[in-house]
Parts: sequence; structure tokens; C-alpha cells
Amino acid sequence: MKRTHHCNELRPEHIGQTVTLCGWVHSRRDLGGVIFLDVRDREGRTQTVFDPSDLPAEVFAQAAALRSESVVRVTGSVRRRPAGTDNPKIETGQVEVMVRALEVLNLADPLPFQIDDPDSAAKVNEETRLKYRYLDLRRPEMARNLRLRSKVAAATRQYFDENGFLEVETPMLFKSTPEGAREFLVPCRSNPGLFYALPQSPQQFKQILMVAGVERYYQLAKCFRDEDLRADRQPEFTQIDVEMSFIDREDIYATIEGLLKRIWRTALDVELPTPFPRMPFVEALNRFGIDKPDTRFGLELVDFTEEFRGSAFKVFGGAVAAGGVVKAINAKGFAGVTQGQMDAMTQIAKDGGSKGLAFIKVEGGEWKAPMVKFFTEAEKDALRRKLQIEEGDLILFAAGEWLPACEILGRIRLYAAEALRAQGKLSINPKRFDFLWVVDFPLLSFDKENNRWYSSHHPFTAPVPEDIPLLLTDPKKVRGQHYDVVVNGVELGGGSIRIHQPDVQKTVFEDVLQIPPDVAKARFGYMLEAFRYGAPPHGGIALGFDRMVAMLCGTSSIRDVIAFPKTAKGTDLMAEAPGEVSARQLKELYLELRAAKKE
Ligand code: AMO
Ligand code: AMP
Repeated sequence: MKRTHHCNELRPEHIGQTVTLCGWVHSRRDLGGVIFLDVRDREGRTQTVFDPSDLPAEVFAQAAALRSESVVRVTGSVRRRPAGTDNPKIETGQVEVMVRALEVLNLADPLPFQIDDPDSAAKVNEETRLKYRYLDLRRPEMARNLRLRSKVAAATRQYFDENGFLEVETPMLFKSTPEGAREFLVPCRSNPGLFYALPQSPQQFKQILMVAGVERYYQLAKCFRDEDLRADRQPEFTQIDVEMSFIDREDIYATIEGLLKRIWRTALDVELPTPFPRMPFVEALNRFGIDKPDTRFGLELVDFTEEFRGSAFKVFGGAVAAGGVVKAINAKGFAGVTQGQMDAMTQIAKDGGSKGLAFIKVEGGEWKAPMVKFFTEAEKDALRRKLQIEEGDLILFAAGEWLPACEILGRIRLYAAEALRAQGKLSINPKRFDFLWVVDFPLLSFDKENNRWYSSHHPFTAPVPEDIPLLLTDPKKVRGQHYDVVVNGVELGGGSIRIHQPDVQKTVFEDVLQIPPDVAKARFGYMLEAFRYGAPPHGGIALGFDRMVAMLCGTSSIRDVIAFPKTAKGTDLMAEAPGEVSARQLKELYLELRAAKKE
């Protein structure tokens, strides 16, 4: 009954043996009266041969009628493929199975898209792939992604187990804590009018676990966030979530570097050099215009604030006089930029709040830009020297407030790099992984609209100890003990040392974040209370597991490494979720709909 081998197992040493394989009909070719069926299972595929001169007519007829992706069991003898017919692309390519018996376990309907076509992912639109996800997952590329994901999860668990961590599951039914992203609410039949919320992360539970004396916790945790989706964001996703007691930042760095080293070795056979470099937030912004710098290429931001102080070119001189900065990048070899590209970059500048995007094209030995006539020789010299300007370069400027000016140029830097890469003027080794820790983030950011401070990360992040006195006097100067681990411009994870003193936590909630005491008590009261009964100093981090696996699989979309992802609109096209519920269900939950149901 059962199979004797899987479909990626037969080799010349099996020649002469009688074997049974089970799997899906990957492809069928009829050649000169002989039928070749490639039978595929999870492991790979094997060519089987139906020769009418060797087989009862009804078996041959059955094989001839089989559609792709039908499920079969075949029995036959292994033989060497005839000279010149080897298939070096598959591991079983030197042999084939001469079929003696065929059992059709299930017939397949005609397929909505071809699975045996290696380019089908590119040809078939993603909606079709998601609707028929079970077929999509049969494609070798997707099967490989799932397998790698499982392997990385296993390596993760093994690593933490070896290092004395406990895996603890935390609840999916939590309560609403509207501090971070928007939440998914869950109504509750037994508590009329009350709602659970799905956790955005196990943050509060893992901190409570430290109070509970667990000391070293990890979890492959499902998290839920109702945010606008993109290629690297899903409404439900997985984190490698970690928390440790009696530690400082160095312990987190070492633990996570060890984990990532293990994972990269297991998945890609790549040895990551450790320790990872560290870069303060301010340096990341100054040099790369972003807090998750891609350091695989140059095109760094260069500061010209001092050079343009009092400049006759009002855009620059005025920005400096107003307390702002002037920054520039040299997009080497990009003077041939098209109008469309220039418009796109100008739009980036405008979206960032700038009036425009000043630039200089260096062509025919000249600096082409109307503003150059306002520049002094000293200003030109500084530009030439600090940007190493040469024929064919494109210089792009941002002037204004520090943070937005840096961020604008940071986005333009990535745009220019992508354009130069497409032209073959910038190459990046695909095996290169530039890891770094970004550190010394500001603890607080100011919300101009609502005229209040909010946590840059989350309100449990501890300030750097020597900055605590500044909390109430000069909040913007307070650095948080927060860190992000970044690779190739992707934020892989982030975390912090937490506040463990109830009085400091209370100050942050009430005096700094101005959460009224009753609101703080309703939301976080149990945490403040728990901290009064002996909270150890602790800290942790969470890594985006889907993002990491996507990077290991070499895909830019996390949908390619999640078995059943949602579309950008948050729908599951296969199961058709979200879906309607009946009036009776609503009544049971004490709910009434105001929105009209969709037709
Ligand atoms: P944070 O919100 O930075 O931190 O999340 C940690 C990591 O999770 C990944 N991530 C996502 N991946 C896919 N889809 C999403 N919608 C999504 N949102 C986040 C990112 C991110 O770096 N509790 C804290 C961690 C801590 O302080 O310990 C937290 O959740 O890779
Ligand atoms: P103007 O003299 O105002 O016409 O501006 C000259 C150039 O500077 C134009 O190309 C503008 O797009 C550009 N520009 C305007 N504001 C900024 C800014 N904040 N940063 C960089 N370039 C700017």
C-alpha cells in the first residue's frame, strides 16, 4: 500500500529494484506512443514511463487520461535512462521508473494556473495564487520557503532552549491598549458590552513574566495589528519575542547576535561576523537619512550647514538662518537622470514637506543649475571637495529642519541607488548581509498636532540612566535604552531595557506622556501594581520572523513566506475572510451594525 521511496530518492544504485511512489502528476508528455509522467511529492520528482507494449491496455488508457495534479500511486522497476536523456536539472535525473501498476488516488480538475512552469509566479497574478493558495504552495519555490521557515523556527527554538530560555505562550484574547497600532477587537458573549483585543505583541505579558520570575522567556508569537498593509507588513504576523531579567543592553546584543549567527548558518551556510557594528540614531540620520540604514553602498549624506551659513542662495542661507541644515548627496554617474526620475525625486522632497529639490548636473565640464551663479568660490570648493564631484555626477540637496531634511535625502538616496542599480552602475552582492544595531534613539518624539510628547517606541522603554533628570525639564534630549537590529536597510527587530521602577513608570505615563491617572490605571494599572511586588531589572526584543524568513528566502514580500497571508486589503481570498455573520450571532454579542452590508 505505502510508498517505498519519496520522489527525490532514486539514484543509479536503485536500478533493478521494484519501487512504489506516491504523488501528484507534475507533467505528462506523450512521445511516440509512450507516456512520461513526472510524479512529484514534497521532496522532488521522478520520471515514470508507461510503455503500451508492456502494460495492460486499460492501465495505459488510464495514464493517458490523467490530468496534471491528479494524485497517483505507481509501482514499477527502476532503470537507467537511455543514453542522452538524462535530466541534470533534477536529482533523480539519471533514472526512471518503468511502470507496471498505476492506482489513481484522486483526479484533479483542470487547473486555474500551471504549476509545472517555473515562471508561473511571475505570470499568474497574485490574487489567483492567493485564491488557490493550496496549488500555489505546491510550487517548488513556495514549498522551499515553507520548509526553510520551519527549519529556522526549529533552529530558533533549539538555540533558546540551549541558552536556558523558557517558551511561554501568552494569551491571544487580551484587552485594548490603544497606545500603538490600531487593534482588532473581539466582542464577548458572556460579558455584554465588553471587548477583548488581539495583542499587538506580547509586550505586557512578557514583562509580567519577568516579575513572575521566569528570567528568560521567548516565544514565536502571533501579533495582530490593524495597520495599512505593505509588502513587509501583514495584519497578523509572527515575532521571535524575547525578554530577560538581570541584564543590560550588551546581554541582548550578544544573545541576538548568537541567534542570528545560528540562523544564518543553518539556513544559508553563511557565517555572520559578530559583534555587529553599532550606530547612534543621530549618526544614522546624518549619514543615511534613515533610522534603518542600508550600509551596503555609499551615496552618504554630507553636511554643508556651515559652508552655506549666510549664503547668497536664499534657499540654503535662509534654512541655516532659521536653525536648519543643508545636506547633499552625490549620486555618482546619475547626471543622465530622466525627467520622469527627476519628477519622482522632487515629489519625494515635496512629500517630505520641502518646497522643491535643488540639484546640480555635472555635464560637459559644467555644473548645470541656475543656483550655481549664487555660489561663492569657497562654497563651490567645499562641494567639490566633500562630495568628490566628477563629470557625470548628480548632486541633490535638502535644506531645512534637521530631521525632515535628512529623511528626504535618505529616501532620495534609496531611489537613486535603485535607479543606478537598474542601470548597472551600482552593484550589490546578493550574499551580503550588513547587520547593525541602531542605538541611542530619542525616548520621546513630539506630536505638533496634539502638542504632546509620545513614546518613540513604547512607554515601557527605560531612559538612559543619566538622562532621567531631563525627563521633565528637557524631554527631547532624553535618550531611550532602545535598540533596533537592522540588516540591508530592513528593520528586523527592536526592543529596549524596560522601566522597572514603578515611580519612574508613573512619571512617564502621567507627567511626560500626560496620560491622565485614571486612564493610565485602567490601561496599565495591573502592570504598575505588579511592579510594586518586586520587579527585576529586565529588557527584551522582538524580531520580525516573517521579514527575516523573507530575507533568507531572497524574496521582498513577506506574503511569500506566510502559508495563508492576507491581501493588501486585509482579505483572505481563499477562505473569503473577513465574512458576514448572521443577525442571530450579532444579537448574541449585543451588537448592531450601522454600516450597510456590502452587496
Ligand atoms: P515592534 O513593534 O518594533 O516591537 O515589532 C518588532 C518587529 O516585528 C516586525 N513587525 C512586523 N512584521 C510584519 N508585519 C507587521 N505588521 C509588523 N509589525 C512589526 C518588525 C519589527 O521590527 N513589543 C515590541 C518589542 C520589544 O520591545 O521587545 C515590539 O513589538 O520586524
Ligand atoms: P527657488 O530659488 O525658490 O526657485 O529654489 C531654487 C531651487 O531650490 C529649486 O530647484 C527648488 O526646487 C529648490 N528648493 C526649494 N526649497 C528647497 C529645500 N528646502 N531644499 C532643497 N531644495 C529646495
